[in-house]
Amino acid sequence: MKGKTIVLGVIFGVIVYLILFTYVFGFSPFVTGSSQSKWIELELSREPKFSDTAICKECHYQLYTGMKNHSSVNCEACHGPGAEHTIKRSKDTIEINRSRDACLRCHMEIAGRNAVKVVNESHSTGILCVVCHNPHE
Ligand code: HEC
Ligand code: HEC
Ligand code: HEC
Ligand code: HEC
Repeated sequence: MKGKTIVLGVIFGVIVYLILFTYVFGFSPFVTGSSQSKWIELELSREPKFSDTAICKECHYQLYTGMKNHSSVNCEACHGPGAEHTIKRSKDTIEINRSRDACLRCHMEIAGRNAVKVVNESHSTGILCVVCHNPHE
């Protein structure tokens, strides 16, 4: 009985040791140098999808300077990733979402949300928000 307890104790100790070293100290006997460099290589090979408002501004300057309400909101928060568009400059490389849901993502009344002005579903139900509100004003 005592021998079995000791064996179980040692197995438990080894498991704790592996978890600690893998997740707490970021070091694992299973992660070798080569798999780490392969991971870094893979990450570096990914094309960036997002650009930045500072870049959108270069070509859409008038629109950018006219913004007040949404001047703190990144263009790509509404228009989605725009890195490809900044190079191709075409309509099909950028998204325009006019749905109510696209606005309610940030403006829907939710308990605890108080950083932005909120409305609820009954606020002009059935009419697109952009009919009354210009998102670039
Ligand atoms: C290098 C210049 C350039 C940059 C940078 C640029 N755009 Fe554009 N954008 C254009 C041009 C040109 C058009 C008009 C395309 C057309 O009419 O065919 C356009 C059109 C658009 C449209 C309208 C698409 C439509 O369906 O009518 C949106 C939305 C847009 N851009 C958003 C952005 C955002 C967001 C960024 C930043 C991530 C950005 N643009 C950066 C040149 C640029
Ligand atoms: C709050 C969400 C939101 C933000 C932030 C936003 N847009 Fe828009 N954008 C829209 C919507 C919605 C439309 C479609 C408007 C309509 O049809 O009435 C649109 C339309 C456009 C258009 C094409 C029509 C037009 O009005 O000229 C361009 C270009 C554009 N946006 C560029 C930008 C750029 C550049 C930025 C950042 C400086 C930006 N948008 C920030 C939501 C947004
Ligand atoms: C990524 C989050 C985000 C999205 C998406 C968004 N907004 Fe906003 N909106 C903000 C922020 C931040 C402000 C500025 C803080 C405030 O006044 O609530 C703002 C302000 C506003 C205001 C001014 C409120 C006031 O009276 O002060 C209106 C109106 C508005 N947004 C309408 C819209 C519409 C319409 C859409 C969809 C096209 C939209 N928003 C999408 C974040 C967002
Ligand atoms: C029929 C026109 C109309 C439509 C559609 C509409 N709104 Fe409004 N909205 C208004 C008017 C008018 C006000 C200002 C009067 C008020 O505060 O009620 C307002 C106020 C707001 C405010 C500021 C609220 C505050 O506390 O000051 C926000 C945010 C807003 N709307 C977001 C939206 C969003 C998001 C949508 C779409 C889901 C939308 N609106 C659809 C007319 C409209």
